[in-house]
Amino acid sequence: MMVRQIAVGPMANFTYLVVEEASKEAMVVDSGWETEPIVKAVDEAGAKVAYVVATHGHFDHVSTLGKLARQLGAETVVHESSRADADLKVGDGSELGLGSGKVRVLHTPGHTPDSVCLYDDAHVFTGDTLFVGSIGRFESESAEEIFTSIHRVILRLPLSTMMYPGHDYGEVKCRTLEEESRSNPFLVARDFTSFASLFA
Ligand SMILES: [Fe+2]
Repeated sequence: MMVRQIAVGPMANFTYLVVEEASKEAMVVDSGWETEPIVKAVDEAGAKVAYVVATHGHFDHVSTLGKLARQLGAETVVHESSRADADLKVGDGSELGLGSGKVRVLHTPGHTPDSVCLYDDAHVFTGDTLFVGSIGRFESESAEEIFTSIHRVILRLPLSTMMYPGHDYGEVKCRTLEEESRSNPFLVARDFTSFASLFA
């Protein structure tokens, strides 16, 4: 899959265009603020976007989801626990096909109950669940939940996986899970007690 990282809006959001190269079938990950840079990237790639997928329901990730999907002739996709309207509601383990490839939905609650990551065997799009060097603070008052999502879901992916966050908050714009696991304090903290102490 080809990945384009696209910066949008005043909150350092990243959206992504993911294209299966042979078929040019594509998905967009998140759509907030402005749609023009995303449409431009789609046009430049010659892509046909099938899905516009939300990593979670916060406004800076979904405020233009429907508008972009209509413009591109795509379907909107959210997690089944989301209150947002969407064409498709998906659960943990759901797969979205793009040409001969597929993208798997990983339910990673914690930042919000409807948070998902998207994984295509080489890249993982983590929304606000995991940033370069930090995590998205959680609303659910469940540090256990976000610990589980990070340590039992994301870190069980191959460590060579390239991690793409929902915001440009880190020292680099993306890096491998291996690099992240060595330098992000929330990943270095392997047991729940040391993880939870980071919130004190
Ligand atoms: Fe968020």
